[in-house]
Amino acid sequence: MTSPQAACLRAALQVGYHLLDRGGSALIAVEHTIRVLERSGLFNAGNGAHLQLDGVRRMDASLMEGDGLRAGAVASIEGIVHPITAARMVMEVTEHVLLVGPMATKFAKHHKMESQKRQAARRILSYGSMLTRMHKPKNRHGTVGAVALDQSGTVSAGASTGGIDLMLPGRVGDTPIIGCGVYADNETGAVAMTGWGESIIRLAVAKEICERLRQGKAPVLVVREVFRRLVDKVHGSAGALVLTPNGRFAMAHVTPHMAAGWWDGKGEPVVRDRFR
Ligand code: GLY
Repeated sequence: MTSPQAACLRAALQVGYHLLDRGGSALIAVEHTIRVLERSGLFNAGNGAHLQLDGVRRMDASLMEGDGLRAGAVASIEGIVHPITAARMVMEVTEHVLLVGPMATKFAKHHKMESQKRQAARRILSYGSMLTRMHKPKNRHGTVGAVALDQSGTVSAGASTGGIDLMLPGRVGDTPIIGCGVYADNETGAVAMTGWGESIIRLAVAKEICERLRQGKAPVLVVREVFRRLVDKVHGSAGALVLTPNGRFAMAHVTPHMAAGWWDGKGEPVVRDRFR
């Protein structure tokens, strides 16, 4: 795969892997991998996040580590480059898991997180036209995510998004909801989701994948089972990154494409836009 997105994915994988190689935690590797993608403006996250129908960019992010099951998340945060770092700060410096809206933004600014340069021109649509236009989202994807396994055997997962096209102001998807867009547990594995959040939430997909991994099944079979259920039950659409504490992994999607990659430090990072 050759495109600016593919080059950015390779760079992000290298940043994450080098942190792991120097003994860094899976959590920090996940955060910094996602920061490269957020900063690039090439994906629907951070600087590239989509606008909601009132012309405002509201972003969601979360991360989780599988040792102590610690997690942090932000939803509907505005004006910062790295929502994933705001999510880590929620985890590290508060007793909470999720902060939302203007208070999440205030929290991030209080912790001196980098602001986005300029919000795109605001588009004002009437509420009626928002409702009409939201029925058929055309581009549901572009969320960024990562999973990692560190030298101590801990897995972590994280994701960051600008949501889906044509969303009502205030809409929140799966990404900041622990167990839906992200989950990590050293007893099972780490999962990061992309796709149509409303369908992923209904099946709590990340946790569902982890619970099936607990039964000892191969990640690729587990994802296939859960995606079959996602499609059959709620006509869902998603992609998943799954990594177990013993290093088995699956990258799968029921969408036509999912630009993604992996690297274990040997040769060049592998980046493709289809995984089967
Ligand atoms: N998966 C991203 C979202 O639906 O918001």
